[in-house]
Amino acid sequence: MEKSRIEIEQLNLQPFTAFEPEGILLVSGQDPCCVNFMTIAWGMFGVMWAKPSVMVMVRSTRCTWELLKENPDFTLNWLPEEWRDAVTLGGEESGRFLDKFEATGLHPAKANAVLSPIIEESVLSIECKISCRAELSPEQFVDQSLLKYYTKDEYHDLFFGEILGATGIASFRKG
Ligand SMILES: Cc1cc2nc3c(=O)[nH]c(=O)nc-3n(C[C@H](O)[C@H](O)[C@H](O)COP(=O)(O)O)c2cc1C
Repeated sequence: MEKSRIEIEQLNLQPFTAFEPEGILLVSGQDPCCVNFMTIAWGMFGVMWAKPSVMVMVRSTRCTWELLKENPDFTLNWLPEEWRDAVTLGGEESGRFLDKFEATGLHPAKANAVLSPIIEESVLSIECKISCRAELSPEQFVDQSLLKYYTKDEYHDLFFGEILGATGIASFRKG
């Protein structure tokens, strides 16, 4: 699989479908001892503080949440269809109890600009430096109907990441 660096302006990614159909993998931590991935399906791409950025939402009960608090960065990874089972596992199992790389056969690989690894088997990886973390709490919800997503006391934190680079196959490049 041939992958190359993609400039952010050239990235061919539709923000409303970027996490479909079954989510993508967020990797945080540093190899070899403390690296983990989890499946995410909610997030936003755009410009924050004049930088190309992504915002991901991670509940405080996740192993990943702890890693995001301890580490300066994370990566987002899109897997080809044949890795669908690994993406499913990433959303069902916790890195607290299982080495998900070992369990799935995915491999961490050195990123260009951040310490967290990318995933070797991915078709697109985006490297992000954490710029801001914001905690959600019930009183912040103007639309109270959204509280249906929080039946337990497990609110998301919003992690904003400045996008430092992207590497992917040609179909993720415009033109
Ligand atoms: C399709 C899908 C999307 C998910 N999206 C999110 C998400 O955006 N934020 C979140 O906190 N959990 C999300 N989850 C749940 C986590 O992936 C799941 O709890 C995972 O086991 C956490 O792993 P960790 O404890 O190793 O961090 C999602 C699960 C699935 C199946």
